[in-house]
Amino acid sequence: MACSLGLEGFRVAVTSSSAGIGFGIASVMGECGARIVITGRNKERLEESINKLRSRGVKAYGVRSDFAVEREAARFVRFAVEKLGGLDTLVFVPPQPPGGRFLDLDMDSWRLSYRLLVESGLEAIYEAIPHLRKGRNPSIIITTSLAAWEPIAGIATSSVLRPALHSLTVLLARELARDGIRVNALVPGYIMTDRLREVASIRARIHGTSVEEELKAMEAEVPMGRAGDPSEMGWAAAFLASPKASYITGAIIPVTGARHVSVR
Ligand SMILES: NC(=O)c1ccc[n+]([C@@H]2O[C@H](COP(=O)([O-])OP(=O)(O)OC[C@H]3O[C@@H](n4cnc5c(N)ncnc54)[C@H](OP(=O)(O)O)[C@@H]3O)[C@@H](O)[C@H]2O)c1
Repeated sequence: MACSLGLEGFRVAVTSSSAGIGFGIASVMGECGARIVITGRNKERLEESINKLRSRGVKAYGVRSDFAVEREAARFVRFAVEKLGGLDTLVFVPPQPPGGRFLDLDMDSWRLSYRLLVESGLEAIYEAIPHLRKGRNPSIIITTSLAAWEPIAGIATSSVLRPALHSLTVLLARELARDGIRVNALVPGYIMTDRLREVASIRARIHGTSVEEELKAMEAEVPMGRAGDPSEMGWAAAFLASPKASYITGAIIPVTGARHVSVR
């Protein structure tokens, strides 16, 4: 694929990446010439995804991990550094936390959500920084959610904890600027993944409708009239990681088809 972003040979680790948004990012960056390490819990799905990337000519590797478990995110980064011989870009896509309204949840759900959304990211970033310092055009990309800007009913833990990822993006961008490491965030709207189909099927059960009807209704909420494709997150990430984005750091960029309401 000709993408002219200058990503050839870049060493990239992407979390939550055997499917969905993470896989979309891994695919685009890989097809732009980056070498990629991906991960997920399910071994078969992970192997299938590595093979899919390799069949498109991407130099891809993977390791199974469960980010709910302490130190697994750090182990993932160590694996990536070993496989790639260093690291230029870390993309932290947080695993999905448990859903539910505040009163549906207990402290165990909050602890797990903190682990998945925040702590595993901090762990990966601490592990990555010494390697990024020696990297080529190094950067960190964090993906978040519209819940980081505005609480969303039914996803209490995301609404409370994801804003921390935006603060982290700006804080790290400032602290790491003199090390030459850029840090940016991407805010997905509706992106057509297994996770979005799962949300549609929950809504269908509640409303007594079909999954297709719910997906249609969700897409109708988007000013562009459709959900995004994971590759559209991929192109945004590829640009941010590339030398073309050399003066962009601390940016929080919506990839929402204009569904976001914030003008911040
Ligand atoms: N899709 C959207 O419209 C949308 C919008 C806003 C925010 N988001 C957020 O973006 C993130 C990714 O969503 P997605 O739609 O790409 O989800 P997805 O299609 O379900 O893919 C999730 C990926 O993460 C892996 N994963 C899940 N739990 C994990 C864990 N504990 N440890 C390691 N890997 C894990 C999955 O593999 P295994 O299942 O095999 O582990 C899979 O590779 C989530 O935080 C989601 O809430 C998504």
